[in-house]
Amino acid sequence: MEDKMLLAVTVVVLLVVLSKLKSFLAAKPKLKLPPGPWRLPVIGSIHHLGTSPLIYRALSKLAQKHGPLMTFHLGEVPALVVSSPEAAQAVMKTHDISFADRFANSTLATLTYDRTDLVFAPYGERWRQLRKICVLEMLSSGRVQSFRRIREEEVARFMQNVATSAAAGATVDLTKGISKFVNDAFVMECVGSRCKYQDEYLDAFHMAVLQTSVLSVADLFPSSRIMQMLGTAPRKALACRERIQRILQQIIQEKEEALDRGDKTAYDSILGVLLRLQKERSTPIPLTNDTIVTLMFDLFGAGSDTSSTALTWCMAELMRSPAVMAKAQAKVREAYKGKSALTEDDIAGEELSYLKLVVKETLRLHTPAPLLLPRQCRETCQIMGYDIPKGTAVFVNVWAICRDPKYWDDAEEFKPERFENSNLDYKGTNFEYLPFGAGRRMCPGVNLGLANIELALASLLYHFDWKLPDGMKPKDVDVWEAEGLIAKKKTGLILHPVTRIALANS
Ligand code: HEM
Repeated sequence: MEDKMLLAVTVVVLLVVLSKLKSFLAAKPKLKLPPGPWRLPVIGSIHHLGTSPLIYRALSKLAQKHGPLMTFHLGEVPALVVSSPEAAQAVMKTHDISFADRFANSTLATLTYDRTDLVFAPYGERWRQLRKICVLEMLSSGRVQSFRRIREEEVARFMQNVATSAAAGATVDLTKGISKFVNDAFVMECVGSRCKYQDEYLDAFHMAVLQTSVLSVADLFPSSRIMQMLGTAPRKALACRERIQRILQQIIQEKEEALDRGDKTAYDSILGVLLRLQKERSTPIPLTNDTIVTLMFDLFGAGSDTSSTALTWCMAELMRSPAVMAKAQAKVREAYKGKSALTEDDIAGEELSYLKLVVKETLRLHTPAPLLLPRQCRETCQIMGYDIPKGTAVFVNVWAICRDPKYWDDAEEFKPERFENSNLDYKGTNFEYLPFGAGRRMCPGVNLGLANIELALASLLYHFDWKLPDGMKPKDVDVWEAEGLIAKKKTGLILHPVTRIALANS
């Protein structure tokens, strides 16, 4: 009897040991993740963001403690934060293909038509074909050039509005003026004509963008059905998307009707180009009206606020640095003495090289997309000795990199001269300077973005002197950013324009 008992106990013990051994052997090898701040159950690391709504600033401080590759948990979403040029190079060059996916939480996925668009498309054949259409047809340098008259006319209209305020001795809200100019120019470039739906579209678009700037519970806890029900951002995003879709469909329909009437000028815009390609059936993936809607949504989303944000910060920083403003104005006025309006031919030459340094320096200090657009790891890989699991969201903190004193002397100072005789450009090959990103998912709109900025900036400096409202000193011009994917200036830039060189027809 005792023997039987002993045998039974021995068998049970053996079975337990065997099962433990099996699960030990079957267990995945432990991954060596990059260091990061300590986590709480459920909320992950988000308590480390403190009260600052500007995530890239908070992440920059944390990276100083935990290093340039940092693990960070946004609720239950594992993320990697990249904060040095070496780490950015490893992610966006050495392992570019492993990080060529975008990360889209449910709000972003909703907004981007379930990622059937280009900007948030998963890396793959559809993305490749859409990107080809974008680069070769919609944003090629020839196409950008073909819109120069539009930009010249819109700049002239903008200058006229400023001149009217100057004549009345009134101030202008340059943030609003710049935003209106960029939106008007952009709509003309995209649609080819003034658009009666523009205000309605902008309203829906800005509501949509607002949903991406909050840490929504639905996005922090994607696996929780309760949180999906409680979270409002994805639902609000869906309502915005449906509004936007209706407006874009209406615009497409009107353009098609114009083409049916034989109006060939209807082809002279980005939308016109897409409708032509649709008609020719010359693209490897069918360009349905739904696809055209997503592309139009993307272009406006990716190009308008980024360009107006950059131009606003140019003016804000020039107001904070009177010596730089004086030098930039002297160069523009000297180069174009006697002209009553500037054209794109004027600004193409070497004469405006200093103005281009001003834009470069602005894009360093106020990179419009401070965390680029989020990427996602497609396959588990090793970066700088750490394991990065498949599915990790990746944020490249270019805001932190562009202000790191290790790479930039007087990093917080606005000094366009630092780019003189430097080989830093926008091509995404210098990893300490990446305002347009790098690698396969780099911005394809660099030319159009810069074109929308440069002529307007040159004209604002050429025609007007700019004064601060009474009692304000240059350093009182604040540099706080609004929260969101795009680092817009939070407060309006209110200035007094004084006409120095009269406009052509005023
Ligand atoms: C100053 C202006 C602009 C800035 C600073 C900017 C910046 C960026 C950045 C940082 C990215 C992400 C890059 C990456 O992940 O490595 C991006 C992507 C993109 N940008 Fe721009 N952009 C600007 C203007 C434009 C314009 C004018 C357009 C087109 C009208 C445009 C279209 C796009 C598109 C389509 C993508 C997504 C590319 C992809 O995922 O394959 N951008 N941009």
